Amino acid sequence: MSSATRLDTHLGVPIALFASGRGSNFDAIVAAVKAGRLNARILCVISDQADAPVLEKARTQKIPAWSLPRVPGDSRESHEKKILDALRAEKEFPRFAVLAGYMRVLTENFLEPFRSDRGYARVVNIHPSLLPAFPGRDSYAQAFRYGCKRAGVTVHLVDREVDSGPICAQESFSIESCRSVEEVERLGLALEHRLYPQTLEWVLPEKFEIENDSDGRRMRVRPS
Ligand code: GRF
Repeated sequence: MSSATRLDTHLGVPIALFASGRGSNFDAIVAAVKAGRLNARILCVISDQADAPVLEKARTQKIPAWSLPRVPGDSRESHEKKILDALRAEKEFPRFAVLAGYMRVLTENFLEPFRSDRGYARVVNIHPSLLPAFPGRDSYAQAFRYGCKRAGVTVHLVDREVDSGPICAQESFSIESCRSVEEVERLGLALEHRLYPQTLEWVLPEKFEIENDSDGRRMRVRPS
């Protein structure tokens, strides 16, 4: 199969990709799909920002790109309902929601349609820190300003807390020689672009074991 047709194939885990901005992780995921490393089909790209560059990138790849901003008066739930309704109106509902720089906190209502029998929601995110350190925004800047020797990246399943949920993969990198936040971000993004597609390779087909802590509060994920 040629790389040009791979995005259209009916093989592969159907995913919806969510992003609010630039879309460099989108690029990395598309490259992995085209190279045949990642068995996924991007059904659509959804952004809450009408002018997000990721939308144009998706259209260039002939992937449906939807801008669904949260309008004044929308609660988080009603905004999410519009997104879910739009997804349900399509021929095929995505098996996974893949978040790549999607700057919204999701509610239980969004997670529920993606819930698996094993208890987790099929919603995965990449966060630019070694969670639970530096949740929230500007995490590379937070690590740099704190004076950390190392920064990192986490890929995790999403639960109802912010930047929480079972950790799938985590890697760190030295920032001792970095003189600016931009330098940290450059190194971090290079790591993200490798780690996210690589982790999705086993997360999307759900080739992992899960283990619950005795108090049932924390779920651990290990590739199987
Ligand atoms: C990345 O640093 C990602 O970890 C974070 O938001 C940024 C998105 O970058 N959640 P991009 O839009 O994929 O280029």
